Amino acid sequence: MTHDDRAVHDARERWALVLGASSGMGEATSVALARAGYRIAGIHLDFRAGLTHVEDVRKRIADAGSEALFTNMNAADDEKRAAALAAFRARFDERRAEGAHPYVRVVMHSLAFGTLLPFLAEDPKVAISRKQMEMTLDVMANSLVYWVQDLLRGGFLEVGSKVYAMTSEGSTRMVPTYGAVSAAKAALESHCRQLAMELARKGTGVTVNAIRAGVTVTPALMKIPEHDAIIEASTRRNPSGRMTTPQDVADAIVALSERGLDFMTGNVIGIDGGEYITG
Ligand SMILES: NC(=O)c1ccc[n+]([C@@H]2O[C@H](COP(=O)([O-])OP(=O)(O)OC[C@H]3O[C@@H](n4cnc5c(N)ncnc54)[C@H](O)[C@@H]3O)[C@@H](O)[C@H]2O)c1
Repeated sequence: MTHDDRAVHDARERWALVLGASSGMGEATSVALARAGYRIAGIHLDFRAGLTHVEDVRKRIADAGSEALFTNMNAADDEKRAAALAAFRARFDERRAEGAHPYVRVVMHSLAFGTLLPFLAEDPKVAISRKQMEMTLDVMANSLVYWVQDLLRGGFLEVGSKVYAMTSEGSTRMVPTYGAVSAAKAALESHCRQLAMELARKGTGVTVNAIRAGVTVTPALMKIPEHDAIIEASTRRNPSGRMTTPQDVADAIVALSERGLDFMTGNVIGIDGGEYITG
């Protein structure tokens, strides 16, 4: 069966693995993919106050007639990733025993967990440390590589699978407190290109693209000290007359994951109403 035949006659059971499924773009995309017929495996990191919201996200997925297999964990922890994938495999085995052919059609990396400290300060405690730099790069960039390695080795990815990683203008532009996150975004875009190339050369039929969202009001944005100025600038600059919303990103990922885009790989795709081109 060719790639195109598979796309047209996809009788397989579509799953989405969303890293960062409990908030912002990952939340909106999880619910939108559930409404489009996907089952959702969500990874998130939430503490007591956030757990009620996680239940609400799971309920919206269930209300769409789908399944929400959620795990509250640090996505950059190797042992926890192994345990989460073992649970995921067990669920796939159950579905196979019931006659289904599950596969992970969509992987979305949408983790926001970074240090917002400047590189330079008189007081070393106020400047970024090695640990903070490495943690930011590990969660927001390098973890993508380790998840894709394990998903490929574990047979979760098949012809037609699509990997998306959330990037931002920060990969090429500077904001005073965004130094480590900017570095992570530049690395993440590079990782997407490398993964796209290696997956294509292996003939896997798996594509990888970075999604560059415009400035979007989410909890992650509101943690950036300069958020008021960033919101003001993006509202003023965006030629579409408004900021990007999580739903814009969700709708784009649902559409990009339909058939016909098996040859689109290694790109940075803007979902921003044209904000980037006005910068
Ligand atoms: N908000 C924006 O303006 C904007 C613009 C462009 C790109 N992005 C990128 O989009 C992605 C999502 O951002 P958002 O604004 O939706 O953020 P958000 O804060 O709304 O959501 C972040 C999600 O990541 C999860 N998470 C964070 N650290 C984790 C960890 N260590 N392990 C597991 N889960 C973890 C949280 O639980 C949550 O589900 C980020 O990569 C961000 O940089 C955001």
